[in-house]
Order: sequence, then structure tokens, then C-alpha cells
Amino acid sequence: MKQKRALITGITGQDGSYLAEFLLKKRYKVYGLVRPASTDPLMRIERLSLDRMIKIIYGDMRDNNSIIRALEESRPDEIYNLGAQSQVGVSFQCPEETMEVNYNGFGRLVSEATHLNPQVRIYQASSSEMFGNVLETPQKETTPFNPVSPYAESKVKAHNDYVVEYRKRHNFFICAGILFNHESPRRGRNFVTRKITHSMVKIKLGLQDSFELGNLDAKRDWGYAKDYVEAMWLMLQQKTPQDFVISTGESHSVRDFVNATANALDMKITWHGKGLKEVAKDSSGKIILRINPKYYRPNEVNSVLGDSSRAKKVLKWEPKVTFDELVEIITKADLESLGGVIGIHKDYA
Ligand code: NAP
Ligand code: GDD
Repeated sequence: MKQKRALITGITGQDGSYLAEFLLKKRYKVYGLVRPASTDPLMRIERLSLDRMIKIIYGDMRDNNSIIRALEESRPDEIYNLGAQSQVGVSFQCPEETMEVNYNGFGRLVSEATHLNPQVRIYQASSSEMFGNVLETPQKETTPFNPVSPYAESKVKAHNDYVVEYRKRHNFFICAGILFNHESPRRGRNFVTRKITHSMVKIKLGLQDSFELGNLDAKRDWGYAKDYVEAMWLMLQQKTPQDFVISTGESHSVRDFVNATANALDMKITWHGKGLKEVAKDSSGKIILRINPKYYRPNEVNSVLGDSSRAKKVLKWEPKVTFDELVEIITKADLESLGGVIGIHKDYA
């Protein structure tokens, strides 16, 4: 059988690296679009020993010529568009940059890719953030979008104009995964989960005294990134292009995530005060966590909860890792990388 070829944008990111590994196991020829200005873009891939198996093509979602070159060189059967300005908080400060990369960048890719090969299959990384100020709970494929951040607006526009409209008008194979938050040891430390695990591991090891967070009450449906990249691939293997919600169906607050991390680290913490004055203390009474309003967003998605029963039925996809297991996986990885002596959950002892 002919070897399949895949082009991944955002291959240096969390999902891109897991997807690359997944596709290599399936014997794909994998190409990755990498920004020339990326901070150490090859490190992760080298660390994963994939450097000789993945073909890196330098380019940027903002640069049409580089996209054309990447497409001509890779001649992909499947394209996974994961490249994005993916930080919701940052999108309030850089709305134009966010729109340029996430919306116009995807538009360039879709237009050039389908021009070159009308049979190409394209996956777009849509997001639960698009549900924003949610209009129904739980959120599923038919739930209307109600974005509240520039990031979410860019993703909604990309979804509507280049997934739904393009597919309807031109009959191309383009589909979107509406993925709820998914995390891993490869998650950037600017996202709340890794910020919590990394900070609390440092506190546990005596390398740091305390850390700061914003909104502790926000609730997210957190899954494991490694589970989620399989769903992306499954979507491109269907007979017809369809969009799917991918989630765990469980929602937890940021405060719950802190508690679960403390649990994984065998730390006893207690909460005191309310609102901006709320703090968490360790068993000796020392404050380890404070609230800093600078981490609050101008507009917040307060709570999301996904219903992925359609993915379960059609794709036969289900999340494998529970919330507590996810927290343990990330915490353990941080403990190991920071050189700690592991005394966490018995499964890892
Ligand atoms: P991530 O770790 O932040 O990775 C983003 C990737 O995009 C990085 O490889 C980054 O490259 C690349 N990128 C940024 N700007 C670019 C540009 N102008 N041109 C080309 N590449 C660019 O994100 P992730 O968590 O893996 O998420 C992957 C995709 O899924 C994103 O589109 C995100 O919006 C979406 N999504 C994520 C989640 C989630 O919970 N993780 C949920 C729903 C949707 P550098 O290494 O150079 O920065
Ligand atoms: N980043 C961050 N830093 N978030 C904080 C902090 C903090 O110090 N304190 C509280 N939070 C809250 C945020 O206000 C938000 O409600 C929640 O923690 C999660 O924030 P992030 O981890 O930054 O993720 P996100 O939900 O905004 O966005 C991620 O998931 C989306 C899927 O819904 C990103 O991966 C997006 O790209 C993705 O689309």
C-alpha cells in the first residue's frame, strides 16, 4: 500500500508532537511546518528522536509563499492544521496577530491546499473556547457558538468560513475537531495546568516559596492530549467529513486542579479567605498560593462541559485517562524533570 503523507502545522506544539509520533507509528511520512523564529523549535523533536523521521519545512501561517512551498514539498494526503496563536489570555493583547494566524493563516492553507490537490483531507483545530458564554450545557456539535475572546472569534471565523462554508460550497474534505482542553507534560507553562504542577512541584522540592493564579472558579473539561490526537486522525479516516466534539464529559475548577496536584504530591493544603484575598497554605501555615488580578481575563469563559457521545458512536473514540490520572501524569513528569525524589501516588512509587 502507498505510504500516506501528512503535513502538520504547529508540529513543535503539544498536540503536534504527539500527533507526529502517532502518525509515525502508523507509518506515515510526516512533514512539519516550523517557524524559523521558533524558540528552539527542534529541541522537542530531537528529544523525541524524531528528527530523522520527520521532515521539517520552515514557514509561517502568515507567509503564503512558505505555505505553498510546504505543500509542494510535502504533497500531503492529509493536513493537520494545529499551528495557532493558542493562548486565550494573550489574544486580548494581540487580537490582530491572533486573527492573522488563526483565521487568515488557515484560509491561506485551505485555499492553496485544495487548489493543489482537491482530494486532500484537512483537519482544523477548532476549540471549545468557541462556545464561550455557553448557551447550553453540555456543549455538543449543534450548540451555537458564543465567543468571548479574540482567540475564540478567530477560531469561530475559521470554522464557519473555511470548514463549514468551504465544505458545503466546494465539497472538499475539511473537518474540525471541537476539542475541549487537553493537557500533558508537554503543555506550555503559560497554561494553567502546567503552571500549577510545575510551581507546586518546585514548592514541594523547596525550590520556590509560592506562586500566583487568577480565576480559581473557572471550570474546564480537561483531558489527556495523547488521547485527543487519535481523535484527529480518526476524523480524517471517515467516509465523509464531519465535525466532532472531543471531551471527557467531566468539568473541574482551577481550584480542583490545585487540590488534585497537592494530593498527587502528598501535600496537605488548606484554603483561607475569599475573592482576591483567597490563599492556600501548606501544613506549616505558610502561604503557597495567592491571587493576582493580572491573571484575570477581561472576559472569561466561566464553565465548559463537553458531550462527545457522537464521537463515541461514529469514531468509536473515548477518553482513556481520568482527571486524577491526568494530574498525576503531569505532576510526576514535572517531579522527574526537576530531579525530585518521587513520593507521590502508589501507582508511581
Ligand atoms: P501549542 O502547544 O501552543 O502549539 C501551537 C503551535 O503553533 C506551535 O507549534 C507554534 O510554533 C505554532 N505556531 C504559532 N504561531 C504560528 C505561526 N504564525 N505560523 C506557524 N506556526 C505557528 O498548542 P496546542 O495545545 O498543541 O494546540 C494545537 C492546536 O489546537 C491550536 O490550534 C490550538 O488553538 C488548538 N486547540 C488546543 C486545545 C488544547 O487544549 N490544547 C484545545 C482546543 C483547540 P512555535 O513552537 O514556533 O511557537
Ligand atoms: N493561563 C492561565 N494562567 N490561566 C489561569 C490562571 C493563570 O495564572 N489562573 C487562572 N486561570 C484560568 C483562566 O482564566 C481560564 O479560565 C482557565 O484557567 C484555563 O486557562 P488556560 O490553561 O490558559 O486555557 P484556556 O481554557 O484559556 O485555553 C486552552 O484551552 C482551549 C480549549 O478550550 C488553550 O489550549 C486554547 O488554545 C484552547 O482552545
